[in-house]
Amino acid sequence: MSQASDNRELRLTQVEKTYANGFTAVQPLDLVVPQGSFFALLGPSGCGKTTTLRMVAGLEIPTAGTVRIGESDITYEKPYKRPVNTVFQNYALFPHLTIADNVAFGLRRRGVKNTAEQVAQMLDLVELTTQANKKPAQLSGGQQQRVALARALINQPEVLLLDEPLGALDLKLRRAMQLELKRIQTEVGLTFVHVTHDQEEAMTMADTIAVMNAGRVEQMGSPEELYENPRTTFVANFLGQSNLIKGSIIGKDTLAGASVVKVDMEGTIVSIPEERAHAITGAGWVGIRPEKVLVAPAGENIDAPGSHFTGATIVSTSFIGVSTQYVLRTAWGQEIAAFEQNTGARGVMPPGTAVDFSWRPEFAFLLDASQDASAGIEEH
Ligand SMILES: Nc1ncnc2c1ncn2[C@@H]1O[C@H](COP(=O)(O)OP(=O)(O)O)[C@@H](O)[C@H]1O
Ligand SMILES: [Mg+2]
Repeated sequence: MSQASDNRELRLTQVEKTYANGFTAVQPLDLVVPQGSFFALLGPSGCGKTTTLRMVAGLEIPTAGTVRIGESDITYEKPYKRPVNTVFQNYALFPHLTIADNVAFGLRRRGVKNTAEQVAQMLDLVELTTQANKKPAQLSGGQQQRVALARALINQPEVLLLDEPLGALDLKLRRAMQLELKRIQTEVGLTFVHVTHDQEEAMTMADTIAVMNAGRVEQMGSPEELYENPRTTFVANFLGQSNLIKGSIIGKDTLAGASVVKVDMEGTIVSIPEERAHAITGAGWVGIRPEKVLVAPAGENIDAPGSHFTGATIVSTSFIGVSTQYVLRTAWGQEIAAFEQNTGARGVMPPGTAVDFSWRPEFAFLLDASQDASAGIEEH
């Protein structure tokens, strides 16, 4: 395989997988993973993440489309001939071999005689030097997962595939391993494709996230892009939480030199920056994140000039220390969430309080009203 080309991005073009039983697990899919990036495939169970990874690894052959790394077409290449390694959730270490021998395995199989130096380097990378002579059963789950990582990395793959590698670990260990994985990826500079159903995990680690739903990529971008400017109700609900309010789209306008789309939202005209408007005619969902909604007792001043609403009532109040989470019932009878940071500026408002609320127009987004407002909530 030629490695002459300097751009070794992973590129999936119109890749599709229909299983023998006729079920299409992956709809024609386009993905570009830049060389050296940390890429996450995020989506609920059953959306086709593992199938996609297995096609990159060569464990499944696509029904259509191509898989390339740089200039090389590897769609039909045998798994062991691909510059790709996979780390699974069940690390599948060899129980009778020491940690060092587990890590050396790939090199020895390829006939490399002197493995000591590379093994030592890898153990250092995953911080397991002191455990080299132990057997897998003597290590914790997180340590075993790091051995699995070292065992894959020692083969110097161009692309490392990770299929829910932290799924078996408890929450605290998972959080620690997320940071650890990110550090290791930065240090080795390889392309990582990480599959997870955990949105926080994807956001913590990835440069780019592709959100998958029912065999399709709904949106791809940086964690910030996806969170701040979701294009579909599924992404708006699966990544964090969103308030979606029905409105009727009036049309484009200019506001302080910027292009906006105006929407009649339950009798109040709100404007949405054009680059955040993903519907332009008819009905739309006006989206706003709970932490962007500011609340104050009725008639009090709120520091969010723009979209202002009166006549709401607090339905529930959850004080969780760092913030207070309110549910408000609006004048038009909809319940919306508002999260207030506990800066000490205002006391906690009990249920029943009459309130006004507002948000800055630049934080709102606009989605197509033909999409299900509850898409992605249950999976989340
Ligand atoms: N060998 C197979 N034959 C038929 N259907 C399969 C097969 N493997 C997976 N599927 C189905 O394809 C869909 C996607 O599976 P998978 O890629 O494992 O999803 P994920 O990893 O996102 O949970 C699921 O509905 C699953 O049941
Ligand atoms: Mg899976």
